[in-house]
Amino acid sequence: MSQLLYEGKAKKMFATDDPNVIRVAYKNDATAFNGKKKARFDGKGKLNNAICTMIFQVLKGKNLPTHFIEKISETEQLVKAVDIVPIEVVVRNIVAGSLAKRLGLDEGSSLGRTIIEFYYKSDALGDPMINDDHALAMQLATKEELAEIRRQAASVNEVLKDLFDEAGILLVDFKLEFGKLKSTGEIVLADEISPDTCRLWDKKTHEKLDKDVFRRDIADLPETYEKLLSRLEAVK
Ligand code: TMP
Repeated sequence: MSQLLYEGKAKKMFATDDPNVIRVAYKNDATAFNGKKKARFDGKGKLNNAICTMIFQVLKGKNLPTHFIEKISETEQLVKAVDIVPIEVVVRNIVAGSLAKRLGLDEGSSLGRTIIEFYYKSDALGDPMINDDHALAMQLATKEELAEIRRQAASVNEVLKDLFDEAGILLVDFKLEFGKLKSTGEIVLADEISPDTCRLWDKKTHEKLDKDVFRRDIADLPETYEKLLSRLEAVK
């Protein structure tokens, strides 16, 4: 049995024989509102692993650095070991969620430009929003690392907007996490990109194809994620 290194809300991380490689197991759990709302859905881990694998492979194909190595089973991946930068990076193309609430904007309205936001990764504090000055003062990352994170986040956005567009889907917003490779210190995209961490709307109907169906009790989560996966598979 390999050692459990960390258990998050949706994934477990295990050690492997290689200290630079981690095994990630996707769980069937869904949480929202910092864990206040919880449920378990058969098949969710498998769906997120499949969707995330497809997305990381597309990013790899565009030479964007990620922690992803390979999918090794229906619910598991191997990834490169990183030290996570404790900043959640949210990229927004269309107004939704907390942005709509905070600034009194209509959900679905367009933005004049893409917005990149930083949040301090702290469950205890509920991930408060921060700016570059906070990140630097708290030594969460260096100036160069913040610039690299912004650059990579913008590139990921360009690649994924195109990918989802081909599937007839709007990439409304999403959350990224970055890590420093244990082996070299290089900043790479880490964690997951899945319908748990993105807002994805059908281009024509604005039907939600992401975790908002669970957060807002709109539709069945596995059925929604299954629909998203088949639409992505159709353009692959
Ligand atoms: P927000 O509008 O609630 O701030 O969410 C922005 C995006 O970030 C949305 O696609 C959902 C994603 N997200 C996460 O992945 N994890 C989180 O803890 C939160 C709050 C949002």
